[in-house]
Amino acid sequence: MSARAEAPGVRRLAVLGSTGSIGTATLDVVLAHPDRLEVVALAAGRNREALKSQCEHFRPRLVSVAGAADAAWLAAELSYHPEIQHGASGLRACALHPEADTVMAAVVGAAGLESTEAALRAGRRVCVANKESLVVGGALMKAAEAAGGGELLPVDSEHAALHQLLAGRDPASLREVRITASGGPFRDWPLERIQRATREEALNHPTWKMGPKITIDSATLMNKGLEVIEAAVLFGLSPDQIRVTVHPQSQVHAMAGFHDGTYQLQVCANDMKLPIQYALLYPDKCPGPVAPYDWDQARTWTFEAPDLARFPCLGLAFEALRAGGTAPAILNAANEEAVAAFLEGRIGFWDIQACNTEALQQVPARTAGCLEDLWDADRRGRDQARGWLASRGPSGVP
Ligand SMILES: NC(=O)c1ccc[n+]([C@@H]2O[C@H](COP(=O)([O-])OP(=O)(O)OC[C@H]3O[C@@H](n4cnc5c(N)ncnc54)[C@H](OP(=O)(O)O)[C@@H]3O)[C@@H](O)[C@H]2O)c1
Repeated sequence: MSARAEAPGVRRLAVLGSTGSIGTATLDVVLAHPDRLEVVALAAGRNREALKSQCEHFRPRLVSVAGAADAAWLAAELSYHPEIQHGASGLRACALHPEADTVMAAVVGAAGLESTEAALRAGRRVCVANKESLVVGGALMKAAEAAGGGELLPVDSEHAALHQLLAGRDPASLREVRITASGGPFRDWPLERIQRATREEALNHPTWKMGPKITIDSATLMNKGLEVIEAAVLFGLSPDQIRVTVHPQSQVHAMAGFHDGTYQLQVCANDMKLPIQYALLYPDKCPGPVAPYDWDQARTWTFEAPDLARFPCLGLAFEALRAGGTAPAILNAANEEAVAAFLEGRIGFWDIQACNTEALQQVPARTAGCLEDLWDADRRGRDQARGWLASRGPSGVP
């Protein structure tokens, strides 16, 4: 007797941050799976031209943009008439669109926190690229997932790799996990040269093409620090169970080390469409927009330990994770302010770590019981950072 195979269902998507690097890669994955994925809502910030052309192509029912003027512009420009909203309430409406069963959370920064939480609480599958929401409000996100029956799936390549490596494993058998870091553009630079790095040098990432904020975070290794906190949240790991290994080729994304001394590694091309598709279509593994890995091509992989003296932001993340409560939110807020100031040419590269160090030292961490606690920590972290940044010139060296 043969059971009739059930046709895989269509997932209806709300893409938050659709005009960004992850948002556009998500829409590429949708294009590769027209029978499995459909867009019902799109939300973006200020790039109205890009949003307009996405709307014309995917025809979402609901669209949101950051500002009221851009919303009015879209309403006048579009060749059809979707519902158009704006601001934080528009972002939230997209996350909660009644037809959307899956939300791609790809807004950058803590601005993505509320919509991610709301979607989880409403029982959606939430594919989280917005690591800041997990760093700032990890415990709350897990609580929202449990309360709403939602499903949180990581999009960061390292965490998507861990999700695959740890599936079905007895947590007691796990000794440690290792997430890999490319090392960024300054991996082999001496400290004195890193301290004087320019904006253009910091934006020149060797292996990944990403938005400007995460690219700077990759140059300071703050991105890897945020990912350490994200791994602790997602997989319930202690700080001592998480290690970072520098692997400049970015082909091994994570490793799971077991008590018997063995390791398992996850390998794939460094293309974000792979973890995006994994999260959207989980648990299905179907052919996608990236060619299979070419094992016949000769290649060399290297692994080394990160140097915390040259990349102190990574150490700060471990410090915040150990301190717990609102410490990660304070660090994240200070870092967002510092990176924005660096991108605007107001401070030097080395000032980013100094600003973050100062915030973690000066702003006391509290318990994080609700969203208001997190916004309070976010505000205190930003206030401290803004005060500190205002007292600096574009020095480059402290
Ligand atoms: N890029 C990667 O390879 C990668 C990998 C792993 C994780 N991530 C994470 O994914 C997230 C997005 O990164 P990205 O590189 O895609 O950033 P990005 O290219 O800068 O895109 C950010 C997106 O967020 C939108 N946005 C910003 N503020 C908003 C607001 N207040 N309301 C609504 N939308 C807003 C932007 O809209 P406009 O452009 O229209 O202003 C844009 O669509 C980050 O948390 C990052 O850490 C990225």
